[in-house]
Amino acid sequence: MSAPNKSYDPVEVEALKPEVIERMRDEALAAFAAAADLDRLQEAKTAHTGGTSPLALANREIGALPPQAKADAGKRVGMARGAVNKALAARQAELEAERDARVLVEEAVDVTLPHDRVPAGARHPLTTLSERIEDIFVAMGYAVAEGPEVEAEWFNFDALNIGPDHPARGEQDTFFVEGADAASDGGSAADSGVVLRTHTSPVQIRSLIDREPPVYVICPGRVYRTDELDATHTPVFHQVELLAVDEGLTMADLKGTLDHMVQELFGGEGMKTRLRPNFFPFTEPSAEMDMVCYVCRGESVGNPDRPCRTCSSEGWIELGGCGMVNPKVLTACGVDPEKYSGFAFGFGIERMLMFRHNVEDMRDMVEGDVRFTRPFGMEI
Ligand code: PHE
Repeated sequence: MSAPNKSYDPVEVEALKPEVIERMRDEALAAFAAAADLDRLQEAKTAHTGGTSPLALANREIGALPPQAKADAGKRVGMARGAVNKALAARQAELEAERDARVLVEEAVDVTLPHDRVPAGARHPLTTLSERIEDIFVAMGYAVAEGPEVEAEWFNFDALNIGPDHPARGEQDTFFVEGADAASDGGSAADSGVVLRTHTSPVQIRSLIDREPPVYVICPGRVYRTDELDATHTPVFHQVELLAVDEGLTMADLKGTLDHMVQELFGGEGMKTRLRPNFFPFTEPSAEMDMVCYVCRGESVGNPDRPCRTCSSEGWIELGGCGMVNPKVLTACGVDPEKYSGFAFGFGIERMLMFRHNVEDMRDMVEGDVRFTRPFGMEI
């Protein structure tokens, strides 16, 4: 062990002067007091008590002092470090208590909050309206019939007497899924092309093929046409189609059925329909059907004092198409047109929802915003 170097006696080391040590201590205390949170305090701790902090560096100088100076300096530095560590521990405890109190408030669980108040869902008004229409006919003995939305062209067109050159077969209306078998003439369901059905009328065909007359079916469903989505068009929409095939059915039966439907749907006196001549390949004769405006009941016609927004004071609202089933359609489905006759009609649910509930923009029906569906009630 080497003896202390008596010839070197640096009594005055700058870093160990009492005022310097005091300043170091005070700076440390000030830094701890200023630390607003535990992270800041950790930084202050490293700066003022760490291995390279001023007090630690000063401490290293002590070893080189002569005995008396060493004792004095050791005491000074020791006391300063003691004070710093005490202040640090106190500030640490203070900040931890603050944090714990804050966490208790921030993470508090309000056990009085209801845990089961999930908003009740409801079905879309298109669905409920469609089912209301179905119910009217189920009550009269009709069966609900459904068919595929991806449909053979033969069912969607050919069997309905819509020939290959009919404009409805053109690209502008129809979503084509698959072309016809190249080797075939498309003359049967098996080798015809495949489309997204453009109307619910193919379900007429499927029902006539599947069932023995008398056939009374109501066919609701989703249909597709290549329209842009705007206020009055949507490429995906819904139709309801009705088909009755029996012995001796006439247009009077069609008319009575339509009148009954609008009375059930819109209620009250004076609800009836009218037919205007039209053409559909699958019905003959064919008609466009209108119903009396359910708001003004026709009283706005020629009456400027009582204008009606719903029917533009025309007294009638256009509903859809109808007619007596074309004998060619019956034949295509293996039904004897000499023995049986039938009537059919079809209309769009979106359009009916629009005028029945004053919906001005069809896009509201497809966007799925509950603020649109809620006013229709929470019918499940
Ligand atoms: N299928 C026709 C359409 O979508 C409507 C219709 C149905 C017309 C039944 C007559 C009979 O336009």
